[in-house]
Amino acid sequence: MNESLIIARTEDFVKEQLGQDTTGHDWWHCDRVRNTAAEIAQIESADVFVCTMAALLHDVADEKLNPSKEEGLLKVRTWLSSNLTDEQQINHIMMIIETMSFSGGGGEPMHTLEGQVVQDADRLDALGAIGIARTFIFSGAKGRPAYDPEVSPRDESLQKEYRDYSKGTAINHFYEKLLKLKFLMNTTYGRKLAEERHDFMLNYLDQFYKEWNQGSQ
Ligand code: ADP
Ligand code: NI
Repeated sequence: MNESLIIARTEDFVKEQLGQDTTGHDWWHCDRVRNTAAEIAQIESADVFVCTMAALLHDVADEKLNPSKEEGLLKVRTWLSSNLTDEQQINHIMMIIETMSFSGGGGEPMHTLEGQVVQDADRLDALGAIGIARTFIFSGAKGRPAYDPEVSPRDESLQKEYRDYSKGTAINHFYEKLLKLKFLMNTTYGRKLAEERHDFMLNYLDQFYKEWNQGSQ
């Protein structure tokens, strides 16, 4: 089977698996991550096919969609084994997905360039205009408020002080996670994209506070 046919079949598989997800792991998240991963892979001279497959499948093993993480990973491996013949390639894609699903958006280091590319692409989807939209959707789905001026630190230097004092507002998530992600980027091109999105979020926060405080200062 050629690569584009395998990718097309994998797209259908992922759509079917993620279908109704409302936690930010929907099909369009995977589609954006796969496109961003392919762009970074090209520029960083990584294997575009491996990055595309790992990005498409990266959320299928998620605990929330499976009885357990292990069963989710087995489902992905079974899918790969029935569509790919190169055992090394299968293991490489699995290693990327395992590392991503055990670390979430967190700090687990990736040991191959392809893993670094996919991790960067996933982190980028948490940043910028899209990242802001996903944050508010996530908070809304959990019944959390957008902002509470009594608990949200405006100043990044206050992060440490506020770390254990989170009521989990959407705005608070910028400080506890989103504004830290650009420092975790693996690739040069990924970092460049993250910096653009980071600056956009800082501008967004400025405007948010300006509107919130309209007339009160
Ligand atoms: P991924 O698996 O794609 O890295 P996560 O499962 O960590 O993403 O989160 C999905 C989306 O929800 C992301 O955009 C993330 O920033 C957002 N999110 C995660 N935790 C919170 C939270 N506590 N408050 C607001 N948004 C959150
Ligand atoms: Ni993801």
